[in-house]
Amino acid sequence: MPKNFWKQLTKPVLALAPMAGITDSAFRQICRENGADVAYSEMASVSALFFKPARTLELLKFSPAERPYVVQLFGKDPAHFAKAAQIVTAQVKPDGLDINFGCPAKKVFGHGSGCALMPQPELAREIIATVCSNTDLPVSIKIRAGIKGTTAIHFIESIKDLPFVAVMVHGRTYEGGFSSTPDFTVAEEIKKIIPDKIVLANGGIHTPEDAKNILEKYPRIDGLGIARGAWGKPYLFAQIKEIMAAGRYAEYDFARIRKIAIRHAESLWKNKDATGMLEIRKHLAWYFKGFPKASELRQKLVRAGSVEEIRDILK
Ligand SMILES: Cc1cc2nc3c(=O)[nH]c(=O)nc-3n(C[C@H](O)[C@H](O)[C@H](O)COP(=O)(O)O)c2cc1C
Repeated sequence: MPKNFWKQLTKPVLALAPMAGITDSAFRQICRENGADVAYSEMASVSALFFKPARTLELLKFSPAERPYVVQLFGKDPAHFAKAAQIVTAQVKPDGLDINFGCPAKKVFGHGSGCALMPQPELAREIIATVCSNTDLPVSIKIRAGIKGTTAIHFIESIKDLPFVAVMVHGRTYEGGFSSTPDFTVAEEIKKIIPDKIVLANGGIHTPEDAKNILEKYPRIDGLGIARGAWGKPYLFAQIKEIMAAGRYAEYDFARIRKIAIRHAESLWKNKDATGMLEIRKHLAWYFKGFPKASELRQKLVRAGSVEEIRDILK
């Protein structure tokens, strides 16, 4: 039986939060190399896995360096979750499965998945129980601070007896979207309700100081989930570890960032060829934001068609 890796991680646990279109194998690897303790996949549709799994299984491929690697599932049909959990466990072989209860995006929420499940505790219970009984991997969930009349506390109260082992709490409500101020007291309160499960707080963590302040102010939480804060700064994880251990952290200069960016480009090229070279563009723009002549550099970088060209431009 695979181990519950969550219990073996040193606290505070720093997780690369799931991001569709961003947390592919190359980015997960770069974040793991730069201090992330665990990396989540992009969300994967259980209905796609139920009806026509090939493309989604391709999306979920990973390299051993990404472990511990958690595959996130979204959907609304328990039968689809059951089959998806079986297929991913047997064929992808990640370290954990996660269920998306937080996504507000129209094409997910509008179909009754993601955050639309939070006000439906019976269905949410059935989904969590189904996934847990169709895998031997540890199961986690990702939720929001609330939606309409349902708070995350209500939600957790209604599912706390189920055998999921970890929860990432995005401290913004559904209504709060992606830019309101996150409320980290929610994660702290949730930890009181489920003290034996791992509780990670997520939302708006962009600097080592943000992380330190939250971890000090909310000492019960087990760690943090970082999403947009890692864009162009996968080393934020390492910096958070430094500030927590020593009260200070090293800044990354151009040479250090260039090395990471080239490694990222090499990995994307290996995984996705020319498509990878299109996808690296947004990452390169994030890596070099704020440097002198950054826009000039970006203009050159967006035309690069190979890792060699990127390397030349960055000289
Ligand atoms: C581009 C993008 C894609 C995302 N995709 C997912 C996803 O697939 N699954 C999920 O649970 N959350 C997803 N999220 C939400 C993030 O995991 C995170 O909860 C949210 O961005 C708040 O964290 P942040 O303020 O650190 O970015 C996504 C966010 C962004 C910006």
